[in-house]
Amino acid sequence: MKVLVTGFNGQLGFDVVKELKSRNIVCKGVDLDDFDITDKEQTLAYLRDYKPDVVVHCAAYTAVDKAEDDEQTCRRVNVDGSENIAIACRELGAKMLYVSTDYVYGGLGVDAFEITDETDPKSVYGRTKLEGEKAVIRNVDKYFIVRTSWVFGINGNNFVKTMLRLGAERDALSVVDDQIGSPTYTPDLARLICELIKTDAYGIYHGTNEGYCSWAEFAAMIMKLGGRKAVIKPIPSSEYPARAQRPLNSRLSKACLDKAGIKRLPTWQNALERYFEELKAQSEKEKN
Ligand SMILES: NC(=O)c1ccc[n+]([C@@H]2O[C@H](COP(=O)([O-])OP(=O)(O)OC[C@H]3O[C@@H](n4cnc5c(N)ncnc54)[C@H](OP(=O)(O)O)[C@@H]3O)[C@@H](O)[C@H]2O)c1
Repeated sequence: MKVLVTGFNGQLGFDVVKELKSRNIVCKGVDLDDFDITDKEQTLAYLRDYKPDVVVHCAAYTAVDKAEDDEQTCRRVNVDGSENIAIACRELGAKMLYVSTDYVYGGLGVDAFEITDETDPKSVYGRTKLEGEKAVIRNVDKYFIVRTSWVFGINGNNFVKTMLRLGAERDALSVVDDQIGSPTYTPDLARLICELIKTDAYGIYHGTNEGYCSWAEFAAMIMKLGGRKAVIKPIPSSEYPARAQRPLNSRLSKACLDKAGIKRLPTWQNALERYFEELKAQSEKEKN
């Protein structure tokens, strides 16, 4: 099996390549400096040359607020770019795994969303990611779509790193407590992705760490594990206005994994503890 991973310079793509390599699977991580997924000819030429059996498509326009004012660029990457990859996969007969998001749902209620629930994205980012899903389904038979949420990993910026920085600078931090979801550690999600692509259990999945929390609860745990003294002040989303509307309910049901016989991921608290170990090991390596 030969695997091409897009978005290698990002959080998830980096760890998918690391996981594939640890399994001795032939793979290559690519990003914008290799080819631009919005350029159809470039994309087709690159994939025809590499001839992957599987493409794990992690590249995306992920600046959720910026997307509200730059819909054209966001759409080009998330919809056209994903369609270009899908067309190449169809031509090569390759499997395609597309990473999607909790933002495809409407975000209301308190029940966990099932993969069969109606989608109703409320932001440009969410709409384009959903259209990306549809472009994949339209073009490729052998597809996996994995909807994830609240991603954190070693390679890139994320909520954990931001909280650690702010927690060292300030005595108190106001963090929203009415958006509920599941933080997701990229090495855990990478393992799930590597398990899925071995199978022919094509379809839509949810892939997050187990358990739900609010951003404020997540931040409080980050302060505790990171040894930061800053007090977390829970606030409603209405007191933290952002350009893009975020879902209040991002709970994603993992019944789809149980049904496919795929093991669920560890809890987000366990994942966060391992992330801190990884951050510590990285900083010690940098010192030496
Ligand atoms: N982060 C989250 O909380 C979250 C939540 C739910 C779902 N997801 C999904 O999970 C996936 C991985 O997210 P992530 O956090 O790892 O993303 P990320 O860190 O933002 O990485 C995305 C990568 O895609 C690259 N890229 C952007 N435009 C490209 C183009 N035209 N051609 C080639 N590469 C391009 C980016 O390169 P540049 O940096 O050079 O632009 C970046 O390296 C994405 O599909 C995202 O939608 C993420």
